[in-house]
Amino acid sequence: MKVKDILEKACYENILTKDEIKLLLMAEGDDKELLFKTADSVRKEHVGDEVFLRGLIEFSSYCKNDCFYCGLRRSNSQAQRYRMQEDEIVEVAKRAYQMGYRTVVLQSGEDMYYTKDMLCSIIKKIKSSVDVAITLSIGERSYDEYKAFKDAGADRFLMRFETSNEELYKKYHPGMSFEKRIECLKWIKNLGYELGTGFLIGLPGQTIDDLAQDILLVKELDADMIGIGPFIPHPQTPLKDSKEGSVDLTLKSIAILRLLIPDANIPATTALGTLDPLGRQKGLKCGANIVMPNVNDLEYKLKYELYPGKICINEDATKCRGCIESIIVSLGRKVGQGKGQSRHYKRFA
Ligand code: SAM
Ligand code: SF4
Ligand code: FES
Repeated sequence: MKVKDILEKACYENILTKDEIKLLLMAEGDDKELLFKTADSVRKEHVGDEVFLRGLIEFSSYCKNDCFYCGLRRSNSQAQRYRMQEDEIVEVAKRAYQMGYRTVVLQSGEDMYYTKDMLCSIIKKIKSSVDVAITLSIGERSYDEYKAFKDAGADRFLMRFETSNEELYKKYHPGMSFEKRIECLKWIKNLGYELGTGFLIGLPGQTIDDLAQDILLVKELDADMIGIGPFIPHPQTPLKDSKEGSVDLTLKSIAILRLLIPDANIPATTALGTLDPLGRQKGLKCGANIVMPNVNDLEYKLKYELYPGKICINEDATKCRGCIESIIVSLGRKVGQGKGQSRHYKRFA
């Protein structure tokens, strides 16, 4: 089958076989350009030209897990740890609102210091102070906790499954289980959150076949938001000598997922912008419609080191906001107004 025919099928049926996805992941030259162009027009048709901004608040760099790729892993004794207190988190959320953000993403390592009650209180305080959507990105919790956070006012939840290859999952996530991860994602979806999930590109040992399977799993989980980013080796982790993930494969995965879930929200991730100075622009041109600038103070930004060389690390939140706006405008797009709920979620809610 030719790439042109596969793209036509994807546009009409929103489903592809693993082999068809693999062919798209390997597309080069004119075929690759056609994939990107098609994804860009599907993006325009289904979610428009607006690019929605999410204010990212990384509130704790403590983590009980030991993911092989991540600078926050608990075995990294050199990691700089911090915890923001309740009022401070609420203040930053208010500041984000004043800067124009209508969604805040509360992200952290898996840090059980923040109990169910504490997180519910933070969510309620933010919701009663400013009119924003709240996305949580805090990892695995119990069903009861997810339910309590939803009842307290949380709207969305982001948690990547990282890789659908169970062997690799096991290897890189000691003490964790792929089955449990998927169970959590299903709970989150069933509780009525807008579900965000995705995977890492370029974990050592990952094949094109695995990536195609990752794409199919995002589709199967019926994600409302899709987070895909290249792996970037961190010098204080076991994967320090591994090769970084491919920008090209990341862009192709974004494009393919835009075709398979046309009305999802898809960010052009910070990791993409870190590996390629034009990475976020390229992502926005092949299917992405979201950017997540960090709204924290510099002190915290520097300490939340998942991987080295993160963009915007020395810029204050106001500068990033202005910078990202000019990037969006330079692409002929506009900054989204309002909370930017996933259209996919609306359609099926
Ligand atoms: N702890 C929560 C979790 O794992 O879902 C949320 C925070 S975690 C830092 C957010 C994401 O960072 C992870 O899903 C992972 O894909 C990504 N990440 C961690 N280390 C990375 C690295 N070295 N390169 C690229 N992305 C990385
Ligand atoms: Fe912790 Fe998330 Fe990093 Fe894994 S990816 S070590 S769960 S912060
Ligand atoms: Fe942060 Fe450009 S978006 S400096």
